[in-house]
Parts: sequence; C-alpha cells; structure tokens
Amino acid sequence: MSNTILTVNGVRREVASAPDTPLLYVLRDELGQLGPKFGCGLAQCGACTVIIDGRAVRSCVTPIDKVSGNVRTLDGLGSADKPHPVQKAFIEEQAAACGYCANGWIMNTVAILEKNPRPTDAELKQELAGVKCRCGTHMAILRAVRKAANAMA
Ligand code: FES
Ligand code: FES
Repeated sequence: MSNTILTVNGVRREVASAPDTPLLYVLRDELGQLGPKFGCGLAQCGACTVIIDGRAVRSCVTPIDKVSGNVRTLDGLGSADKPHPVQKAFIEEQAAACGYCANGWIMNTVAILEKNPRPTDAELKQELAGVKCRCGTHMAILRAVRKAANAMA
C-alpha cells in the first residue's frame, strides 16, 4: 500500500495511515497538529475544523484519500507573539472557558471572513450555527467574532 501525500500548512507530508483514516486522526496522531480537536466525530460540533482551499471542513469525517489541496490548521494560523487577527480577538474578549471548542470557532470564523470580509451579524450567526460550545461562552465568542470581522474588514 502506498503512502498518502498531504499538504498541511503549505508543507508536503507523506503519511502512512490507511487511505480511509479520518484526516483528524492523521493530523493529530501522525503530523502533530494539535489545533483540531475530537469532539463528536460525527460532523456535528465543529471542534475538528480545518480549512481546505478556503472551505471549512470537518476533519473527523473526511478520509485522507478524499483530501486535495492545502490543509490549514490552527497550528499554522498564527503564533504566540504574532496571533492571527481572529486569534487576537478571541484572546482580547477572553472567548473561552475550557477552550475545547476554540479551534472550531476560530477556523470557521477565518473561513467566513476570508470569503466575506463584511458579514452582517445575521450572516455570522447563520454560518456559525453548526459550531458548538458546551460551556455556554457564546456571547463572548460572538463579541470576538464581530471584533475580528471589524479588524479584518
Ligand atoms: S469532532 Fe468533527 S464535527 Fe465534532
Ligand atoms: S469553552 Fe468549553 S466547550 Fe466551548
């Protein structure tokens, strides 16, 4: 069986996992990308979101042999001393309790704002409806999303 080639955060990587392995497992277990999280495993919470060619993708239900294009993960988005504007807004608004869902909110927000730099609040809520937070941090999250949208507009 031949290895699968993935491009992750602009770097070509060869992975040994079976072709039907979910991208999330490969990112975390083989490639050390710990930004995406396992939440539901059923495409229902958004915790595992990555961006592939501008589209927010649930990596928990995406087999690696179906992946083409550059996979962007939270790990490649910004750094501690130079956070992405969306990460910066989440930090400033303290938009996390346990933080487990943060990857999903941040990556989905990045995908939305890159596609639509001036979304209305209604558009943001609609686009983010599939992302879940069990800690009830939604108000701070929405403030952070709006702040990021204003900063990136
Ligand atoms: S873990 Fe993928 S959507 Fe919940
Ligand atoms: S902050 Fe805990 S799940 Fe969202």
